[in-house]
Amino acid sequence: MTDFRAFPKVNLHHHLEGAVRPQTFAELVQNLGIDVPALARQSAAEYLTVSGEEASLADFLDKIGRTFVITQHSGVLERIALEISESAAAESVRYLEVRFGPWLHVEQGRPLTEPIEEVLAGLAAGEHRWGVKGRLIISALRHHTFQQNRQLLDAAVAYRDRGVVALDLAGDEAAFPASEFRELFLLAAKAGLGVTIHAGEAGPAAGVWEAVSELGAQRVGHGIRLVHDPALLKAVRDAGTVLEVCPTSNVHTRAVESLSDHPVRELFDAGIRITIGDDDPTTSGITLSGEYQLLSEHFGFTEAELQTIVLTGAEAAFLPKDEKEELLASFRREFA
Ligand code: ADE
Ligand code: ZN
Repeated sequence: MTDFRAFPKVNLHHHLEGAVRPQTFAELVQNLGIDVPALARQSAAEYLTVSGEEASLADFLDKIGRTFVITQHSGVLERIALEISESAAAESVRYLEVRFGPWLHVEQGRPLTEPIEEVLAGLAAGEHRWGVKGRLIISALRHHTFQQNRQLLDAAVAYRDRGVVALDLAGDEAAFPASEFRELFLLAAKAGLGVTIHAGEAGPAAGVWEAVSELGAQRVGHGIRLVHDPALLKAVRDAGTVLEVCPTSNVHTRAVESLSDHPVRELFDAGIRITIGDDDPTTSGITLSGEYQLLSEHFGFTEAELQTIVLTGAEAAFLPKDEKEELLASFRREFA
């Protein structure tokens, strides 16, 4: 297979802030009268996409942050979420978990619930129009205070029955250790939310194990540094934790030196359960289908192996048991 757009998929690792369509950014900057001087010299796509000069995850996150000038405005997040759903449908994504950090979008003082409601409305409209089942993960950020993240958790829990399914920890792993967040994530789990933690991306394998054993992560964003620690690799395999692997993003954040150094094949062959995400598709200038193509062409994954990866993702979806069974059954029918 050379074109994976028609291959049925899930996308469990997809940041809204890194998935804003460049055309939408350009249009809204103009309509809202926001001055972005760089747009006189380069296209919105060039402005929002990695240049290749990013030296770290922190540089990559700065680039994602360029979208924040538009997202403060009422209605913008709803449109972005709707467009994300539309794009997912075009890529045969049957189930989508979008994540975002509400605190990033309330700089002008609006309540924290407003961004959450907007994204949920966009995803619900997308589900209705294109049939992509869409759920929301709320991202706590490593550089925010406990108080901020605590408030965020309360907001997330309040929307648990309206599409919010989990709490994530994102931001600069190298600068802020996860141990500070133990209490927050234990409270999240107690409130019935799923737990996924970015770890083993810009930090060591030990951070992945900490996410699993201390913070209760059922899924880990990236986790690729596990390959450097055989004992922890085995522990994570035995725990059944699912890694949300995003190969191209790992090149762009310098988590790996090049695609050829990416351990996705080793992780899969070692029995680690993996799902494939696109992380920040606009920032990286990629699509999820393109990531599947990389797995096929660069890492030699067979179609049957890619189906296994999709089914693993469906098993790891933050959905109630009956909905998960239904999703799995629909993939089995499509793959038959
Ligand atoms: N936020 C958006 N993309 C991220 C990544 N790759 N790691 C941590 N936080 C993020
Ligand atoms: Zn991520």
